[in-house]
Amino acid sequence: MECTLRLLRGLLDFFGLGPVRRPAAPRGTTMPEVSSQFELRQLLKAYRRGWISDELFEEQLREIQGTSSAEGNGTSDEAPTKVYRVGERTFPTEREMLLHFLDEFRAGETFGGEVFALWYAVSPDPRVRGGLQVVREREAMHGKLLAARIAALGGKCQAALPEKFQSAARAKLGSPTVSDADKLADFVRRLPDVEAAVAPIRAVIGQIEDDCESRALLENILEDEMATVRWFHATPAAG
Ligand SMILES: [Fe+2]
Repeated sequence: MECTLRLLRGLLDFFGLGPVRRPAAPRGTTMPEVSSQFELRQLLKAYRRGWISDELFEEQLREIQGTSSAEGNGTSDEAPTKVYRVGERTFPTEREMLLHFLDEFRAGETFGGEVFALWYAVSPDPRVRGGLQVVREREAMHGKLLAARIAALGGKCQAALPEKFQSAARAKLGSPTVSDADKLADFVRRLPDVEAAVAPIRAVIGQIEDDCESRALLENILEDEMATVRWFHATPAAG
């Protein structure tokens, strides 16, 4: 808009027709409409009098039309583009953010279901075994629900945890010689704070405006995750 005005102002001044003044808005007409109509008339005048080339006329016309529709939408070219974030990564749309996050989360949860089952199979402590049965089912269930949501959104399940991490976790949690106390202490060390443990999920939920189904799914999984972390913290580390 400013660019167009500067050009017209310059042309009209140059040809001695005085500065461009904006007319008052007639009743029932919005200012953006009036501004665009006024600039269009000035542009046509300049074109008809041969002051500007065909190319410049078309360029300025496009600019006026673009500005007019942006004003009509209550937006402008300078409005900051919304960016969605998952950790360090950014995404241009809510859907792309969700497909990435749901898939990463799914990979972790599915693997959780697998390794907690390995731990359960070697745990001698009934208190730990009882809790692990619930934790492993929750993790596996989350993995399935997340995979189903990804499919419903037209995405693909392709994320995988690093191989090194997977083999180290399987070896440690599935080991009959590493005590339950050591395994529990390891989790508490990694996840010392319940709220901090679920902060990445909360950060994504906070950015969802359109996909209510994914948001409700994540809100409920978040509650389960908090219950799991609380259980790790509350379970006595028997030797
Ligand atoms: Fe989990």
